[in-house]
Formats: sequence, structure tokens, C-alpha cells
Amino acid sequence: MIVIVDFGSQTTHLISRRVAEMGVKSVIVEPEKAIEEIEKLQPKGIILSGGPGSVYNPKDPTVDKIIFQLNIPILGICYGLQLMTHLLGGQVKSGKIREFGPAFVQLTKKRGHGNLSMLFNDLPRRFRVWMSHSDEAVKLPPGFCYIASSENIPAAAIADEKRKMYGVQFHPEVKHTQYGQQILNNFMKEICGLKLKKKDISINQLIEEIKNTVGKNKVIGAVSGGVDSTVAATLVAKAIGQQFFPIYVENGLMRVGTDKEIKKIFKEQLGITPVTIDARAKFLRKLKGVTDPEKKRKIIGGLYIELFEKAAKKVRAKYLLQGTIYSDVIESQGSKHASKIKSHHNVGGLPEKLGLKLLEPLRLFYKDEVRVIGKKLHLPDDIVYKQPFPGPGNAIRIIGVVTDERLRKHQQVDSILLSELKKAGWLDKVFQSFPVLTGTDSTAVKGDARSYGEVIALRIYQSDDIMTAGWARIPYDILQKLATRIVNEVPDVSRVVYDITTKPPATMEWE
Ligand code: XMP
Repeated sequence: MIVIVDFGSQTTHLISRRVAEMGVKSVIVEPEKAIEEIEKLQPKGIILSGGPGSVYNPKDPTVDKIIFQLNIPILGICYGLQLMTHLLGGQVKSGKIREFGPAFVQLTKKRGHGNLSMLFNDLPRRFRVWMSHSDEAVKLPPGFCYIASSENIPAAAIADEKRKMYGVQFHPEVKHTQYGQQILNNFMKEICGLKLKKKDISINQLIEEIKNTVGKNKVIGAVSGGVDSTVAATLVAKAIGQQFFPIYVENGLMRVGTDKEIKKIFKEQLGITPVTIDARAKFLRKLKGVTDPEKKRKIIGGLYIELFEKAAKKVRAKYLLQGTIYSDVIESQGSKHASKIKSHHNVGGLPEKLGLKLLEPLRLFYKDEVRVIGKKLHLPDDIVYKQPFPGPGNAIRIIGVVTDERLRKHQQVDSILLSELKKAGWLDKVFQSFPVLTGTDSTAVKGDARSYGEVIALRIYQSDDIMTAGWARIPYDILQKLATRIVNEVPDVSRVVYDITTKPPATMEWE
């Protein structure tokens, strides 16, 4: 097994997932308890995660130096590399150039001998990685050498091969790092001496776990038509059948046609008709005048729970099923040292005194794993590969106040975007695509007259694990058609812009 010391990176759990994918167990521990846990667990390797901290800030997490004397191979990732450098006598400085997003690294031959590091076995000399840092190691500790550099920093990867200590400034755990899994595999296999075997997800085990948790109790399920809630609902329906009551809240913040789609899927796939609660007016009333994104999330989350509590009382349910997945958890602060990015409504927005127990069978899975589960459950591809849609819906795609008029405007632009991407064969190729009403007005000339209308931003991007994303290279003529149709067909729109920011640093949703 591997021990992962968590310094609060957004991707710590992703490291453990990559490790688990190769059939190796891992335990995530807090830095303050690391030595105690390592002595107890006797791992074959240690991974020091990244984190938002800086090694020179006394308030930021550190680890007892003894960790480097335990004769256990260590891989430091990002902050982990910096901490290792700092604690072993090297020097870390605030970098002149901050690197967030894609970068290329070049492997370096080790001084003294011509070999490349074992960490990079079977890798090309140059490949793309994902960086997210501002500090960097500028002087290496005794015994260490550079094993890869990037355009901006010499210490993209370092090693003391004799003591089996390695550090990478980039994130091998994210899919956007080419050969990231291979690097972790090399660490586990070549350096820690572990046997690797690809793991499989067991549907029967997931169903058994739900049966054991729920027993004879009733469950109500929040369904939204998305892949997460549909997969979660299918698992529960298979586990407990008639004890399950799916509920769809029509909140007015969804995509056009969502309610019809849901009824169709549940009837065809599970033979259950979900109960629809029409709460459009209620949601609009509560959101009136609210512009702060976190407030929007909390209001929507709170209202959902209120409605579910009422519905649960009616059927005497004890559990509330939610399609929460791991990226929702981690982005709503899933570990001690992690920064809070957004309160995803199904995690951070829950009122403390919830009268229902939560059932979240997908809580530890990432989106691509949920899709594998969906395929195994024989759900149609339309559902399995459907774009994720956020719980707070279009409310967080409308910057500023949410009104009935703006919601309709958003739906109209969204429908144009979806239909054009579908026509061009791009809808299935991208991870998510949506417009943002930016709340900014600009000037246009329509029919020889001046008009002043809203700027629409289009966000279309690729991602595997949600933690990282890059913008989709949509052909110019499709973008042109989108801009023309949106400006011509939707009233009060003056301009369309295309968002080409990667995640990190920008999150996928604007709010
Ligand atoms: P961000 O914007 O955090 O989005 O990069 C990552 C993924 O999560 C979705 N998202 C949400 N989902 N409640 C949800 O259920 C939320 O509050 C929320 N905010 C973002 C987003 O659409 C993307 O798939």
C-alpha cells in the first residue's frame, strides 16, 4: 500500500484513485498524523500531495523531517516537491513566472551517468504536463539532481535516486498530464516494488452496499436527468425496488425539455414514474435580487432540501438519495488543508439539521467512473455520455440577478448552442458546453441603428476528471454560425465571445 500525505491539493483524491486503478491500496493521511500512520501502516511508498500553501508560511502544513529517514520511497508532487526541497536543505522561492495549466517538460540526463530517471521509464523525452504553482525549487538539497525541466523552471522534476526520493512540480494524477499514470506506475512498480493489476468496478458490490445501508427503510431520490443522478437512481432501484421514490423538482433553472426526458428515461429504464414538484415560482422568489454565486448555491440547495423533507414525510422516507460524485465533494472542501472553491449545492449547501439521512453511492467516484458504471448498468448512451449539468442549473450561468426574463433568454441561447453543436457532430465530442449571460452590455449596430445589449460568453471544453479542462477547438465556421444566430435571434444580445481559459486557473462555470 501507499500512504498519501494530504497538504490540501484539489487533486489529492485523484492520486489515490490513480493508485487504486492499478490495484494498489492507499490511505490519505493528514500531515500532522503522517508519521504515526506510516509507522502503523508500513506502506511501500509515500506520496506527498500538492497543496495551496507555501513552505515559508508558518501557518501552512508541514511534516516531520523523520519521514525522510524511514527508508520508504517518496514522491513529492508540487507542494510536496517544494516541502521536500525545503526540509532537506534546498531552497524554494516564489517563482518569477506563475505556471497554471499546460506546459511541456523535457527529461534531463542525470549528472555523472547518461541514464534518464527510473521515474520516467518508457516515456518520450518531451511531453505535456499540467502545472499549477507559483513557488519553485531554486536550489536542490544535497544528493538531488534535476531529472526534467520546463520552459520556465529547471526543477520540473528532481530526484535523489540513491535514497529513492523523487519530486515532480507538475501533477501526474490529472488526465491532462500525458503519461501521468505511467509516471505513477513507475514510482509504484520500479521504485516501490509493488505489483500492479488493473482494477474493475463491481456493480453487485455497490448494490449490496446500498441494500445493507438502507435495510427496510424508504428512500426518496433527487433526480435531475443527468448521468450522476440517473446512475445513482438505477443502482438504488436495482437494490431496493419499490422502497425507492424518485422525485424531480421543476425549478425553472433547467435546460429546455428536461422534465419530459426524465419521465421517459425512468419509465423506459426502471418502470417508475417520478413525482414532479413544480416549484418554479418559489425558486424565483427566493433568488430575487441575489447576485452572489455562493448565496445562489445555498438558497437553491436549501430550497431543494426543504422540498425533499416535505416529500419524504409524505412517503415516510428515511434516506435522501443524491448523485454526489467526488469532484463535488473535494471542490466543496473535502479535506483539512484544501481551499474551498465552490459550495456545490448537494454538498456545501446542506442545512445542518437535515431530517433525512443522505445516501450517496457515487460519492467516491469521478465522472468517468460513473460513466463506466452507467454502461455496466446498460443505460443508453444518451444518458451515459450526457453533459454534466450543475445542480444550481442556469442560475450560476447567469451572472448577476436571476429573473424569469433572463432565464428565458439563457434557455434560448442554450438551445441554439446545443442544436448547432449537435448538427455539426460536436455535442458528443465535448465535455460540457453552455452560454453565460455575462451581465455586461456592449454596443452593436442592428439594421443601421445603435443597439445596446448583453455580451454572451460561450464555454465549450474538454475534460476527463473535472479537475482539469481545456477549451474545445471548435471549427471557426461553427463558432461564426453560433455568433450570428445568437445575436440575430435572441433579443437584447449584442455580442458573443468564446472563453478559451483552461481549468486551472479558471473553473468551468463562471460563478
Ligand atoms: P467548476 O465550475 O467547479 O465545475 O469547475 C466543475 C463541474 O461541477 C459542475 N458544478 C456544479 N455541480 N453543483 C453541482 O451539482 C454546483 O454548485 C456546481 N458548480 C459547478 C460544473 O458544471 C462542472 O461540471
